[in-house]
Amino acid sequence: MKLIRVENYKEMSSKAAQLVEQQILDNPHSVLGLATGSTPLGLYEQLIQGVSERGISYRHVQTINLDEYQGLSGDHPNSYRHFMNEKLLGHIDISLENTHIPSGKSLPVEAECQRYEALIDKIGPPHLQMLGMGTNGHIGFNEPGTLETSLTHCVKLEASTRSSNARFFSDRDSVPTHAITMGIQSILKSEQILVLASGKKKAQAVKRFLEGHTSKDFPASFLWKHNHVTLIVDSDAYSLA
Ligand code: GLP
Repeated sequence: MKLIRVENYKEMSSKAAQLVEQQILDNPHSVLGLATGSTPLGLYEQLIQGVSERGISYRHVQTINLDEYQGLSGDHPNSYRHFMNEKLLGHIDISLENTHIPSGKSLPVEAECQRYEALIDKIGPPHLQMLGMGTNGHIGFNEPGTLETSLTHCVKLEASTRSSNARFFSDRDSVPTHAITMGIQSILKSEQILVLASGKKKAQAVKRFLEGHTSKDFPASFLWKHNHVTLIVDSDAYSLA
């Protein structure tokens, strides 16, 4: 695993943007694995700027997102589809049909999970997968206890995850109880993985991650099984390591 330490959130975002843009310059037909949450927001701002300021084009790029809340349609303001369109996809020259996110409304959910995993194998796996980390070590929505062999599946969200994500909803009860997420195995299929962590609230998780003990109690630890992972961490997130 490659560790890149930076001072703050802004530097983390710029460094990540450099790596993503280099990937696109190396292969204009890249498949990017995208994440939601507040961690990649600065990265997405930089990528939007990169289109006008550095001439980066997403015309041939495809994107595959990690996860979606179950029960929310793509036009729901709290869906991850809406989030991605607002924060990145609607502001770069990508064709929306080249952007993929699980459908939170498709039933039966098991069929949607199978469809999505088949799609990952067909157009992906991603050349570069971006990841944030939950404070409990979740990646995507793979909560503690998830098996290393998991493919795209439906999960019941932990109370702590629902509470952390409640800030995006009008109240905690509106946070969906379930989600569809790429599994650990689906994520590990990616060629290269870029993990971002910023801020004091991630310090404990970064410390545990860097201990390097693989355990299903801490899903991010399975990333140690992959041979091309880069962690970009700022000084607050690194402060306990
Ligand atoms: C959500 C997402 C994860 C993300 C996590 C961390 O649960 N499903 O993919 O990594 O939040 O969020 P944040 O970046 O806001 O700390």
